[in-house]
Formats: sequence, C-alpha cells, structure tokens
Amino acid sequence: MTPLNIVILAAGKGTRMYSDKPKVLHALAGKPLVQHVLDCASALKPQQVCVVYGHGGEAVPQAMQKYSAKFVVPPKFVIQAPQLGTGHAVQQAMPLLTDDGNTLVLYGDVPLVQHSTLHQMLQAGDGLVLLTVNLPNPTGYGRIVRDAQGDVLSIVEEKDATPEQREINEVNTGILLAPTKMLRGWLAKLQNNNSQGEYYLTDIVSMAVKQGVAVHTAQPAHEWEIHGINSKAQLAVLERTWQLVEAERLLAQGVTLADPARIDVRGKLSCGRDVEIDVGCIFEGEVSLGNNVRVGAYSVIKNSSIAAGANIAPYSHIDSSEVGANCHIGPYARLRPGTRLHDDVHIGNFVEVKNSEIAANSKANHLSYIGDTTVGSRVNIGAGTITCNYDGANKHRTVIEDDVFIGSDTQLVAPVTVAKGATIGAGSTITRDTPAGELSLSRSKQVTVSGWKRPVKQVKEKK
Ligand code: UD1
Ligand code: MG
Repeated sequence: MTPLNIVILAAGKGTRMYSDKPKVLHALAGKPLVQHVLDCASALKPQQVCVVYGHGGEAVPQAMQKYSAKFVVPPKFVIQAPQLGTGHAVQQAMPLLTDDGNTLVLYGDVPLVQHSTLHQMLQAGDGLVLLTVNLPNPTGYGRIVRDAQGDVLSIVEEKDATPEQREINEVNTGILLAPTKMLRGWLAKLQNNNSQGEYYLTDIVSMAVKQGVAVHTAQPAHEWEIHGINSKAQLAVLERTWQLVEAERLLAQGVTLADPARIDVRGKLSCGRDVEIDVGCIFEGEVSLGNNVRVGAYSVIKNSSIAAGANIAPYSHIDSSEVGANCHIGPYARLRPGTRLHDDVHIGNFVEVKNSEIAANSKANHLSYIGDTTVGSRVNIGAGTITCNYDGANKHRTVIEDDVFIGSDTQLVAPVTVAKGATIGAGSTITRDTPAGELSLSRSKQVTVSGWKRPVKQVKEKK
C-alpha cells in the first residue's frame, strides 16, 4: 500500500460563527467538527496526520489532546500564523511529512466526508486527484476548468474567474490528493498575485498540468459530504441532514421510528430486531438496544446497554448503565452511572438509581433514591424510600438482600444491611442492620390526643 499522509486544515477563524470557540471545535452529532475528520482520517491508516491550526491559539490541540492519545499514530499539530491562504496552510505541515507516498488534504470544517469517498480518491490513479462536485448554484466555489477533451486544466477561484468560467457548475471541494514529493515542489512555487492576495492551494493544479502530471477527479457519493461549516445556520442544517442519514440507516435495518425527523444520534446506536423508538429521543456515545426494546418519547440514553424486551417509558434518562431483559423503566426515571439492573426489574417514576446493582424481579416504583446499593432478587422498595449514602464526607453502601420488603418513606442510613426476607415498616429511619425474616421499624407509636382543637384564625382589630 502506498504510504499516506493526511493534512487537516483547521486554521480559519470562523468569523460568522460569532463565537469565542474555534470553529472546528463546535459540535456536530455530539462531537467536534475536527474530530469527525480525524476519525475518518485515521480509518485510512495513514502514516502521519497533521492538523494545521491557527485561530483560537492552543484551544484546538488542547481540546483534542485526550482524544488524540487514543490513536496508534497520534496526530501532530502545527500552527499557521498568520493565515495566508490554503496553500500556505499546507506548507506549514510539509516539514513534518516524508516524501514517500501521497498526501491527502482535508478540512476541519468539512466534517462529514465519508471513508468510501476518500477510498475512491485513493483508487483514482497516479498523479493529482481532486474531489469535485457539480452544483446547480456554484457561487463562491473555485471552478474546475477543463479543456475540449475534458481534461482538467486548472482551478479558478470565483473572485478571479471570468464571467464564462463562473458559468461552470463543477466546483472544487478543496479536498485533494497529491504525490507528497511533487506537492512539496509545487507549494514552494506558489505566488499570491491574485485578487485575495493569498497563497492558493488550488494553483498547484495548473502546475501539475504544465508538468504533464495526470489530474484525476472523483465525486462524493452524497453532496452533504463536502458541505463546510461557516455559520451556526449551516451547522444546524448539516446536523439535521446527518440525523436524517442516521434515521434512514436505522429504518433500513428494521427499526421503527415514530418520526425519522425527531431522533438524535450523537455517537453509535446499535439496535436488535423490532426495536421501537418514539419521538424526541437522544442517544449519546455507544448505546445498544436489544430485540423488542421500546424507548418512550423524550428519553435520553447515553453509553448504556438495554437488553431484549425492556420498556423505557417516556422522559427517562439513562447514563452509563446496564438494563436487563424485560425491565420496565420510567416514565421519568433516572439511571445514573454504574447502575446495573438484572432481568425484570421495575424502576418507576421519579426514581433515581446510582452506582447500584439490582437483582432480578425487584421493584422500586415510585419516588426513591437508591445510591451505592446492592439489592437482591424479588425486593420491593416502597414509595419514597431513600438510601442515605452520604454522611457529608464519605459514601457508604447499603445492602438489601433477597425477598426484602421496604415500607414506604423509609430512610436506610448507610452503611447498613437489611437481611434476607426482612420487612421494614413504613416511615422508618433504619440506622442499624436488621435481622432476616423479621419486621423492623423505627417510628414512634401512634397516639390520639382527644379533645385537641385546631387553631382558629385571629381577627385583627382595625386601627
Ligand atoms: C477554498 C478553495 C476553493 C474551494 C473552496 C471549497 C482555495 C484557494 N480555494 O476556497 O477552490 O471551492 O475552498 O470550500 O483553496 N484555511 C486555513 N488557513 C488559511 C486559509 C484557509 O487553515 O490560511 C482553511 C480554512 O479554515 C477552511 C479551509 O482552509 O477550513 C478553506 O478556506 P477558505 O478561506 O474558506 O477557502 P475558500 O475561499 O472557501
Ligand atoms: Mg478564503
């Protein structure tokens, strides 16, 4: 395989974003624009990836630091200051690249270019390869100028184009592939005597033609792949485009979506057979839904797995949790990180579970907090039960063994164990371990004060 370098241009200011954050750090589908490009780049197994940054200073390399560390060959970051054009930007990366093989130029603000399209460019043949697209309205783009035989002659920028050239519909997406050694030579010869006074990367095309180097073109499978982001409006449009692509992918696999226009996938969602997803749901990070899972409206599920047959009722929030088969969650339930529910568990409305394991067939159906707790099987946790896991300084565990019944409005002050088969009377504050099979309760006896009268409203005298 020919060695491949990838240069990602990300130095632009993004004036029209009206933001203090560098443009390429704005998120699409939950991740920074430049990270989409880096992910796609790394899938091509390059020998070197180099990100050219500028505006926003160190914010770009800093934001990407943790993420870059995961790469086999971590990307390098090189600053371009001042920004004198796309050709000048690529020049900044050249000292980091070896002459063997090809260099692919991508853009940090063109986030959705697909692996298949770039692969097609790599297969296009020796020489220079341009990714072009035919647009009904080519305004603003560099035009691809061809000769009578249809061979590419040059790219001319809109601002430098003649009226006839402006009629050309085939435009430069900016993405190109060039033999590294030749690229180095061409870049060294760039001049800025054009209407914008910039060093245009696109000028290398006519240099290649003059030298008799073949210039090939490839087209993306979808036009959205080459859309760049310059404003929040464009970002919003591309986000919706991408979400529809995700929705269509799910529909094609047999997932039932109540409305393909009202689902957001910000990461990777994998679904079994006969999954149903109602409107307004958000899936973040890696989420897997087993066969026959139903997700109710406006649920937010992040980095979690939901096993077959589980029913997530509307407005549930699930983060970094495992939900077992046939569980019933919600409506209005919150599963926080470290929650592990075995099969057939019921977690009802306004119940919050954190860092807890709940064994099969147990239920907490109403208004509870279960934190740092181990719950056995067939346990019933009454309405309003709270595990008091935090003493103000440290967290402690609660253990509730199999077949326990906890009466409503109970506080379990951790560390505490409720042994197998125990019953806790409603309204108790349990501070010591309770024995197996017995009823424990801590409330005072009910009394009746006979003859007691309700206070009556006093009539104020007028002054
Ligand atoms: C460029 C192309 C044009 C193409 C269009 C596609 C050139 C000369 N023109 O035009 O043919 O149709 O893209 O969108 O290449 N950048 C830097 N440093 C710089 C200048 C730009 O990193 O000094 C980055 C920008 O952040 C941006 C990208 O390069 O991501 C393109 O720059 P931009 O100025 O938007 O190029 P266009 O004028 O649109
Ligand atoms: Mg420009």
